[in-house]
Amino acid sequence: MTNHTSAADPRTDHTGGTAPAVDGTMRAVVQEAYGTVDVLRHRPTARPEIGNDEVLVRVRAAGLDRGTWHMMAGRPYLLRVIGFGFRRPKNPVAGIDVAGTVAAVGSAVTKFAVGDEVYGMSRGSFAEYAAVLERKLAHKPAGLSFEQAAVVPISAGTALQALCDAGRLQAGQKVLVIGASGGVGSYAVQLAKALGAEVTGVAGTAKLDLVRSLGADHVLDYTRDDFADGQHHYDLILDIGGNPSLRRLRRALTPTGTAVLVGGEEGGRWTGGFGRSLRAPLVSLFVRQRLTMLASKERGSDLERLAEYLAAGTVVPAVDRTYPLDQVPDAMRHLETGQVRGKIAITIDDARS
Ligand SMILES: NC(=O)c1ccc[n+]([C@@H]2O[C@H](COP(=O)([O-])OP(=O)(O)OC[C@H]3O[C@@H](n4cnc5c(N)ncnc54)[C@H](OP(=O)(O)O)[C@@H]3O)[C@@H](O)[C@H]2O)c1
Repeated sequence: MTNHTSAADPRTDHTGGTAPAVDGTMRAVVQEAYGTVDVLRHRPTARPEIGNDEVLVRVRAAGLDRGTWHMMAGRPYLLRVIGFGFRRPKNPVAGIDVAGTVAAVGSAVTKFAVGDEVYGMSRGSFAEYAAVLERKLAHKPAGLSFEQAAVVPISAGTALQALCDAGRLQAGQKVLVIGASGGVGSYAVQLAKALGAEVTGVAGTAKLDLVRSLGADHVLDYTRDDFADGQHHYDLILDIGGNPSLRRLRRALTPTGTAVLVGGEEGGRWTGGFGRSLRAPLVSLFVRQRLTMLASKERGSDLERLAEYLAAGTVVPAVDRTYPLDQVPDAMRHLETGQVRGKIAITIDDARS
């Protein structure tokens, strides 16, 4: 059962001139096919209806991450097979990460009320309104702008799960973050430091300064340095970029170290390098080192945990640039150049008022 929210709904926010469009439409970036940035269209569409366990968020900012690019492109094709939509995305509104204020709540929602400032993982955040499951939402840390909060959920949640759940990080350990200048890596470096690790970050030449500024103890330039030089060994490796072979990862690990395979963009159009991730646990059966893949989960509980670090300022979101909603295609083109330092935020103005 769904609760269709309308301007007459008593749980809907009518304050500050931000009331929903009376006709039930909103501006959004919609994609009706997989493809290049040209499939992203800024146009009116129906406001989402929320279920009993969902929250309607009036979006103030959204985050752009690699996952949203994969959903635009429909690649790797494996994505289509596992349920995101075979010929076109099941959910036409693009974007996942969201920050904003609660406009309405479903009847079973207990943790949030109209007006709360929140952030989380939605089904369609490049829009004026987004529906979010209560369990994928958390209260936005005070002191964080909506733009900063919007670039946290998927990337920082993935970094936290890679370090703590899959990686079982302990204070004092040596951690190598391959892909330290990107969305996931920029959080991984800061979180690993906050958790007491000695951190080495791997990135391209142009972003080594960013990785240093995030707090990395050492940096490696993947165009010049070999992290698997046989001289340095790490208790934990987060493999987020470059798709190195399992052999190279093992060479850089301590005899009982752990490598967590998170992702990489060079893995091919069918499986996106998933074969390497599947082989990792098999290899692990026969060696003392642990090689494991991460399929991150969208959890509000991670966001509550991250809020402690964000509120304390020990983790600061790296916002490269912000783009207004109607310039999402430009934002996506910027992501495709590989020049983004950290994350891109999309801002949603108040054309509703
Ligand atoms: N497993 C999961 O659940 C999960 C969750 C989220 C994301 N992912 C995946 O994880 C990957 C990274 O996501 P992201 O959002 O962090 O992407 P991103 O922002 O584009 O960052 C990519 C990182 O990889 C680095 N890199 C590029 N080529 C490299 C190379 N040859 N050697 C070493 N590093 C290299 C980049 O460094 P420079 O920019 O300095 O060149 C950058 O730091 C993507 O494939 C994404 O789909 C997986």
